[in-house]
Amino acid sequence: MPQTSSLDSCIDFPLIVGQSLADREDLHMALIDRSGRLLWANQVFCMDNNQSCEMLIGQKFFKVLSQNAQHLPQQTYIREQLIKGESFKFEFAYQQEGNLTQSWLLMDGQPISNSEGIVSQYTLLATDITLRKQSELELHQAKRLLEQTNQALDVRVQERTAELFQEKERAEQAFHELQHIQLQLIQSEKMSALGNLVAGVAHEINNPLGFLAGNLRPAKNYIQDLFGLINLYQEKYPITDPDICAETEAIDLEYLREDFPKLISSMQEGVNRLEHISTSLRIFSRTDSDRPVSFNIHQGLDSTLLILKHRLLANEIRPEIEVVKAYSDLPTIKCYAGQLNQVFLNLLANAIDALEESQQEGRFETLKANPHRIKICTKLSENGQRVLISIADNGPGMTEEVKARIFDQSFTTKEVGKGTGLGLAIARQIIVEKHRGTLYCDSQVGQGAEFVIELNLNGIESEC
Ligand SMILES: Nc1ncnc2c1ncn2[C@@H]1O[C@H](COP(=O)(O)OP(=O)(O)OP(=O)(O)O)[C@@H](O)[C@H]1O
Ligand SMILES: [Mg+2]
Repeated sequence: MPQTSSLDSCIDFPLIVGQSLADREDLHMALIDRSGRLLWANQVFCMDNNQSCEMLIGQKFFKVLSQNAQHLPQQTYIREQLIKGESFKFEFAYQQEGNLTQSWLLMDGQPISNSEGIVSQYTLLATDITLRKQSELELHQAKRLLEQTNQALDVRVQERTAELFQEKERAEQAFHELQHIQLQLIQSEKMSALGNLVAGVAHEINNPLGFLAGNLRPAKNYIQDLFGLINLYQEKYPITDPDICAETEAIDLEYLREDFPKLISSMQEGVNRLEHISTSLRIFSRTDSDRPVSFNIHQGLDSTLLILKHRLLANEIRPEIEVVKAYSDLPTIKCYAGQLNQVFLNLLANAIDALEESQQEGRFETLKANPHRIKICTKLSENGQRVLISIADNGPGMTEEVKARIFDQSFTTKEVGKGTGLGLAIARQIIVEKHRGTLYCDSQVGQGAEFVIELNLNGIESEC
């Protein structure tokens, strides 16, 4: 039988219950006064603290508990509760001698009042909560493991997302590069096809033109010689023969003599114009797009206009499209001449397309009063560093939505077969990327459209 104190002297039912509780091996029981000093302790309490009941009596109970405790009881809280005479509850961990595992107790302190209702003592009842604590600990560890796994997963997901993002960026970049290359290919393909054609025509014109130009002067001299000879004959042998007189009359020799030099001059003028056309065609078809060359912008614009001349002429539904030039004095610039001509061609062709589109709505007479017009202006910027080339038309203009997309590759408002939507994308690439210039558009519905190219004089020179 476990040893107890004076409880066994009184045979009373509550005492019997108390005794049997005190004897239990899983219950720690003790009696303390209000200062926390032990008045009594049961066997288990004594054994777990390695002291006899007599040794324990008089010691502060939390000091006793603290000896083996790994988790100290909350001393301040217990002291306050004892002073107030109120109950207290706390958990604490301790290690029994020879036992490596940690045990946990839930200590419950309940005040006992004396006959005057004053709290003089406390019962301490401690139950073992080690199992619950272990489960809590395991749960806590499992939670931590879960958190760690989640964190690791999070990191992995973030890494993978970053990788995917990079892959997407790479794919997008590759796509843009492809689009870029495609545009360059189309551009050079278009230009070289047109350039070759124009160069071929210029070449074919050139040979016969050479004959004409080369033979006109001797022809003029020969005729002058022949007229001189006729004059000499008339002087030396005055004509009396009726046949010769009749023939002289019939061919109107006097008029012929007078008109022939004029005829030769007008032939010379024709040859000059043909030569000008041939030069323009050659200027336009410059295929030297691989390296920058000195370029006269006005010559480029004029040669492009020449190529488009047939589209400017009057036809059965509309009068001629007027072209107004306001050229300023410009220095020649170093640039990719053939490519700049292509930009002029795209912008002018768009202006003509726009005018023809609005044409379908207007009447011939109204149009004559307010003719379709393309105005080309060139000037230097105020600081003389940039060349500004503006190509404006008085066509239908465009909405904000259209304007926002005109430089997009493949954007067109024209019917299938008429427009591919590449003209402005190519123009933008040539001006912005190749020449480090700017290309912008100002337009409102019903107010026409103006495209302005700005090329940096120094920029072009240093770039090229
Ligand atoms: N001067 C202008 N006036 C009104 N709209 C214009 C003008 N210039 C361009 N646009 C609009 O911009 C669109 C895109 O022009 P872009 O030159 O890129 O392609 P496109 O002319 O339609 O086809 P492509 O030039 O490839 O034959 C045109 O379809 C048209 O809607
Ligand atoms: Mg176009």
